[in-house]
Amino acid sequence: MGTPSNKKPGAQSEYSGPILFYNETVIDHFTNPRNVGELMENETDGYGLVGDPACGDQMKLWISIRSGRIDKIAFRSYGCPGAIATSSMLTDLAKGRTVEEARNITDDDVVEALRGIPERKKHCSLLGVLALQAAIKDWESKPILKGEEEQ
Ligand code: FES
Repeated sequence: MGTPSNKKPGAQSEYSGPILFYNETVIDHFTNPRNVGELMENETDGYGLVGDPACGDQMKLWISIRSGRIDKIAFRSYGCPGAIATSSMLTDLAKGRTVEEARNITDDDVVEALRGIPERKKHCSLLGVLALQAAIKDWESKPILKGEEEQ
């Protein structure tokens, strides 16, 4: 038998922090994130690294572009469950899209695809979006690679 609790019946938990309710889709993307990892240097056309100064979380994202579309995408997130789930969904949304379509994916698109995320975690969805935009900018800054990619 366990040790008897000193808590009075009906007493509240001592934890007074925020309670976050993630839906099943968010939990699925957090516990089984898609496209996690890194691309090899020779298959990386663009790389983005961004951080959220408010919470210290960080996101690295790699893309490979073929025929103007996101052919491969991979990420590493050093962040909270919200950052991991939203980054996972972002990579799912971006894969196979044209560069222009991928660039226009917003944090709202990511949250909608996840069927919602707690209000106080919405800012987490920006990390992946900003990292993808940084990776696309990086690719655009390499005119030689861009030209070779079309061949
Ligand atoms: S709390 Fe920092 S990205 Fe979620």
